[in-house]
Amino acid sequence: MLAGGFWWRTRGKETPVSDDPRLTFETRYRNVRPDVKYVGDGECAACHKGHCDSFHQHPMGKSVGPPVNSPDGDHLDRDGHASFEAFGLGYVAERRGDRLFHKEMITGPGGAVVASVENEVRLVLGSGRHGQGYLIEEDGYVFQSPISWYTQKGVWDLSPGYQQMNSHFDRPIIAKCLFCHCNQVEPVEHTINRYRGSIAQATAIGCERCHGPGELHVRRQRDGEGMADDGDDTIVNPRRLAPALREAVCEQCHLQGQARVVRRGRKEFDFRPGMPLQLFWAIFVYPPESGPDRKAVGQVEQMRLSRCFQESKGSLGCASCHDPHALPSEERKVAFYRDRCMTCHEDRACSAPPAVQREKNDNCVACHMHRSGTSDIPHVASTDHRILRDPAHSPDSARADGREPEGQLVDFYRDQAVPVEKVPSRDLGVSLMDLALGTQPGAKRHRLGTAATPILQEATRANPEDLVAWEKLGYALRCEERNSEALSAYQEVLAAVPTRELALAEAATVAGGLQLFELSMDYWKQAVAVNPRRAHYRTELAKLLLNKGQLQESLDECNAALRLSPASVNTRVIQVECLLKSGRKEEARAAFATLMALKPQGEDDLRRWFEKQAQ
Ligand code: HEC
Ligand code: HEC
Ligand code: HEC
Ligand code: HEC
Ligand code: HEC
Ligand code: HEC
Ligand code: HEC
Repeated sequence: MLAGGFWWRTRGKETPVSDDPRLTFETRYRNVRPDVKYVGDGECAACHKGHCDSFHQHPMGKSVGPPVNSPDGDHLDRDGHASFEAFGLGYVAERRGDRLFHKEMITGPGGAVVASVENEVRLVLGSGRHGQGYLIEEDGYVFQSPISWYTQKGVWDLSPGYQQMNSHFDRPIIAKCLFCHCNQVEPVEHTINRYRGSIAQATAIGCERCHGPGELHVRRQRDGEGMADDGDDTIVNPRRLAPALREAVCEQCHLQGQARVVRRGRKEFDFRPGMPLQLFWAIFVYPPESGPDRKAVGQVEQMRLSRCFQESKGSLGCASCHDPHALPSEERKVAFYRDRCMTCHEDRACSAPPAVQREKNDNCVACHMHRSGTSDIPHVASTDHRILRDPAHSPDSARADGREPEGQLVDFYRDQAVPVEKVPSRDLGVSLMDLALGTQPGAKRHRLGTAATPILQEATRANPEDLVAWEKLGYALRCEERNSEALSAYQEVLAAVPTRELALAEAATVAGGLQLFELSMDYWKQAVAVNPRRAHYRTELAKLLLNKGQLQESLDECNAALRLSPASVNTRVIQVECLLKSGRKEEARAAFATLMALKPQGEDDLRRWFEKQAQ
């Protein structure tokens, strides 16, 4: 689709990508410039009370919130308590006063708690339409709690993805995730999950995420300057934008794609409404023609497959049906959406017999935008945005089947290319490696690596200062099992920024695999120094210290890791071995009992091993 209006410097002058597009992009809107300040929703309320009041009732206006706002909204029982079991571990959520705590417990024979960890919840993620996640924080490092609430089923359970791998309290929350759910956060550069200030201060999505920074507009309106006929050039009204730019405002969060990467030189929160999203983010999807098993899962991609979209020449957008400031009440919902349909369908009416339509209360949506049953999976549309003529005779579900093709990804914005990269496929290479992160070692991961390596080699040659490309190149080489080359790639990053957390952890892992134990240990030590809150780093360090015979140091790391993550089987095995090797048999036996309470895989082998060592 080619939307008019914003073909930006397509040929001729080429803009070096390091230039901030917020400075160079040609637009009438003055509040896209990076020095214009955000003022916060409180300022807008003085003059737009109606919009503010209603928006703060919309799920987006409640996208994050304090752990305890109203006791009836926290899903806990009368005593402020909830619990469940998973993987043989006990999980408890508990309200104390206006604070909320999450706890993970290992129980031994007879149900006695043998080890546990408790963390205070700092922020609730999600308004609760489908579910809620919980964030914990220490010293600016933010992690997800293993405990989540599932609205449809009305149950507490492990967080999404934890059934495959229980990360306990050790799953870092990266900035990309908060970009879509919080109004604004300030990531600390070169860390994975550290933020300035406290995450408890983070606020829900606000006005300026869709309208741009408000400083100039507030000043102008306070001065009583009003607004020209064609709008106010100090604040973006999406309705006045060309269709592609208008849709970009919603796509900044509603277009998940298969992979999303921040463009070279940009930061997560750089995007400004009124600008093309693709100057800031590269978003890759499977092409619609890639077959029925590759169906679009998000609202944006689905809507684009609809005839309403394709034949309305860009006029259909998210706001054609949604008022971003307010959800219609349950009673008004059917009429609300019908009115929205009728803005275009007055003359092109439904061809089903009126009697049939009346049977469904003239509910256009019920027949043309089917709702799928299970919708507790976040990030998958539950309302079919393909707006089908006859759902009964169309491919049933709009879900992806989980199989992922490789090397087939296409740039979502391929038809609206803006020349942002001299090496355009850099972002594809980075995306392939993001996909590889979610795969098991094996042929598929190897193929992803093989596809990405040459692309990323070219990207790092063209832009040697591109640290992300170097890291992804390292990972691509790892996927191909070219480990010493991978190590060199990470070392390029560390030469530029010695404290870069991801490169440290990756270099440590690769060096270990190459049996460069001293080097690996050195990297793990640095990783621990950069992020002392990450249990995984300490466990890896403890393993190397144990192998080197530095038993007390190893034990110290184990104990530090177990304070953070007491249910880690790996750490407990190392701890037991350390104690045995130190001749501390009684302590070893007690530690072994705790390990057994975790019912680890290969329980019998472990038992035999222990008895042999403990003799
Ligand atoms: C001092 C009063 C005042 C404050 C504060 C204020 N506005 Fe406005 N805003 C106005 C007025 C007046 C208009 C013009 C309304 C009209 O003529 O319909 C307006 C218009 C707008 C428009 C429509 C612009 C257009 O071109 O159609 C948007 C969007 C908007 N404001 C958003 C905001 C946001 C977001 C904030 C907070 C960051 C904010 N306003 C703060 C007074 C204010
Ligand atoms: C800053 C990110 C962000 C932007 C920009 C954004 N959304 Fe959202 N939107 C979200 C998140 C997050 C949720 C889920 C909120 C929740 O329930 O916790 C959501 C929820 C919604 C919902 C679902 C309400 C329901 O029924 O539960 C609609 C509809 C919606 N957004 C429409 C829009 C439209 C239209 C735009 C563009 C004008 C837009 N959004 C822009 C992040 C965003
Ligand atoms: C590209 C933007 C984006 C990213 C990245 C993203 N989300 Fe979301 N998330 C959304 C939107 C939009 C919704 C609501 C609409 C939907 O489900 O389609 C949502 C819904 C949710 C919900 C359900 C909220 C509710 O009220 O029902 C949870 C929980 C959630 N996300 C957690 C996360 C976590 C945790 C991460 C990071 C690991 C994450 N999301 C990353 C955009 C995003
Ligand atoms: C999720 C995106 C989003 C958020 C958040 C948002 N708006 Fe809007 N706003 C829009 C869109 C889209 C339009 C244009 C609506 C249309 O096309 O019908 C709009 C239009 C407006 C207008 C112009 C008058 C009108 O209603 O069309 C004002 C004023 C306004 N918004 C103020 C606010 C204020 C104040 C807030 C914060 C309380 C806010 N908006 C939050 C997306 C958003
Ligand atoms: C921005 C205008 C617009 C809006 C809003 C809109 N449509 Fe459409 N729709 C169209 C156009 C244009 C077509 C293609 C020409 C036609 O069939 O009349 C179309 C076609 C359709 C079709 C035929 C699909 C097919 O595959 O043959 C259905 C069904 C439909 N719309 C239902 C809806 C429903 C239900 C709504 C409200 C939820 C809606 N539309 C809202 C513009 C719109
Ligand atoms: C033709 C009308 C129409 C258009 C266009 C449309 N939506 Fe929707 N959308 C709906 C309806 C109807 C629902 C169901 C509302 C409900 O049941 O409460 C819905 C639900 C949603 C939800 C809640 C989760 C779900 O899937 O049920 C989100 C999020 C959402 N829309 C986002 C978007 C975004 C983003 C766009 C633009 C890409 C968009 N919608 C375009 C009609 C539309
Ligand atoms: C009881 C289910 C039902 C309801 C309610 C319903 N439709 Fe339909 N609609 C259908 C079916 C079935 C068809 C295909 C009939 C056919 O093959 O001619 C259809 C066809 C259409 C078409 C294609 C018309 C054409 O000439 O190609 C449009 C547009 C449409 N509906 C819009 C709407 C709108 C707008 C509403 C709400 C005012 C609505 N429908 C309500 C079932 C329904």
